[in-house]
Amino acid sequence: MIRAIGKEESIPFDLLLLADESIVAIEKYLSASTLYVYERDAKIIGVYALLELSIDENEIKNIAVDINHQGKGIGSELIEHAKLVSISKNKRYLLIGTGDVSTKQLKLYRSKGFVNHSVKKNFFINNYDAPLYENEKQLKDMIVLSFDLLA
Ligand code: ACO
Repeated sequence: MIRAIGKEESIPFDLLLLADESIVAIEKYLSASTLYVYERDAKIIGVYALLELSIDENEIKNIAVDINHQGKGIGSELIEHAKLVSISKNKRYLLIGTGDVSTKQLKLYRSKGFVNHSVKKNFFINNYDAPLYENEKQLKDMIVLSFDLLA
């Protein structure tokens, strides 16, 4: 079941930290975002943070699935859920950004119909204290993809 997290519930930082480097980085968008959780057998095993970016754009700022449950379609379900929520809020576009070397994530988002939107040059160099690595390569640019909810 996917649902918005309750006000009194604790934030699943363990999951959010799979998708972002630090709690400081997460807190920059957390308070302005709505958190949706994927719950199974009373356990939260997936999460995404949806931010209203502008009058016609939402952005998935963070999406993560517990490592023991990855590759089973939960991330895809969360993305489809974010599309439906955004349509219900009368948005036109859903955006998602990830590292230029994050090949698995980029492939997943493209397979869900997201197309190139923009590149935030040196985002991971300018916004984090230390160099970040993924797939043994340094993260530099953020690739922002968008999905047209009305197409
Ligand atoms: N059985 C097996 N495999 C499946 C199934 C299924 N039923 N359904 C889909 N898959 C495949 C997909 O085809 C996809 O294959 P691909 O790698 O060839 O593209 C792959 O599994 C992943 O799809 P999902 O299972 O839907 O995705 P998952 O549940 O693993 O979630 C996520 C994806 C969120 C990226 C997850 O891997 C994760 O938490 N990673 C670590 C954190 C992270 O990198 N988050 C994104 C950062 S960017 C941001 O947060 C904005």
